[in-house]
Amino acid sequence: MKLIIGNQKAYLNRDEVEEFIKIIHFKQRGNVIICANTLYIDLYNKTDFVLGAQNVSVDKNGPTTGETSASQLKSMGVDYCIVGHSERRLNQKETDRDISIKIKRLFENDIVPILCVGETLDQRKNNLSTEVITKQLSAALNDFTDTQLSNVIIAYEPIWAISDGITPSKIPDNEVIEECILSIKKFMSDHYGIDIKVLYGGSVNMKNVDQLNRSDIIDGYLIGSASRDCKEFSYIISTINDKN
Ligand code: PGA
Repeated sequence: MKLIIGNQKAYLNRDEVEEFIKIIHFKQRGNVIICANTLYIDLYNKTDFVLGAQNVSVDKNGPTTGETSASQLKSMGVDYCIVGHSERRLNQKETDRDISIKIKRLFENDIVPILCVGETLDQRKNNLSTEVITKQLSAALNDFTDTQLSNVIIAYEPIWAISDGITPSKIPDNEVIEECILSIKKFMSDHYGIDIKVLYGGSVNMKNVDQLNRSDIIDGYLIGSASRDCKEFSYIISTINDKN
């Protein structure tokens, strides 16, 4: 069954999160993870959502004002955490080294990393997609054992397809997504001998999810703006759960 991960970013205020939790209900939540804004992790903790976070500190517990450690996330019931999101690589200047340390912290605390990789439009136009993605993968993952890595989830998120929350970008054709996902799977199998889940992320919504669902190669979706909207998110979930 496809995995659905909601990345609610910094879209919602508390009353909106409470409303979302109240309204959204569906039978099978095992394949749905909510990566809540850190502020609202405890609100989701009281529901039966599987809980993820959107970021983690490179540091362990200690004097790091404004940061949240992996151990703190775990103590709040978090089992998954996004790392290497393009918004953080770009806006917070997160380096490959930071991302690798964050993954280490997550492993130390039994939290599954959801590693985001993806190319810019320029890189795609210059036929550099596979090269960029495999560089991101090896920089993030090379310090770990195959056993540790067998739990990682990868999200292929072409930067040019991520929406700004108001205007969804155009999603790539399934063939384009599948080609990148297959190259990620091949890289993981050739380098680490493992078979992992690779999701697609970037402007997934209720209008295009049926097209994406036609692919058996895409193992699920990382959903940003549509995961803050009950109607959109419930619809996407229903298309997966109804199939099974
Ligand atoms: P989007 O975001 O669905 O709003 O494009 C996806 C993501 O950034 O993870």
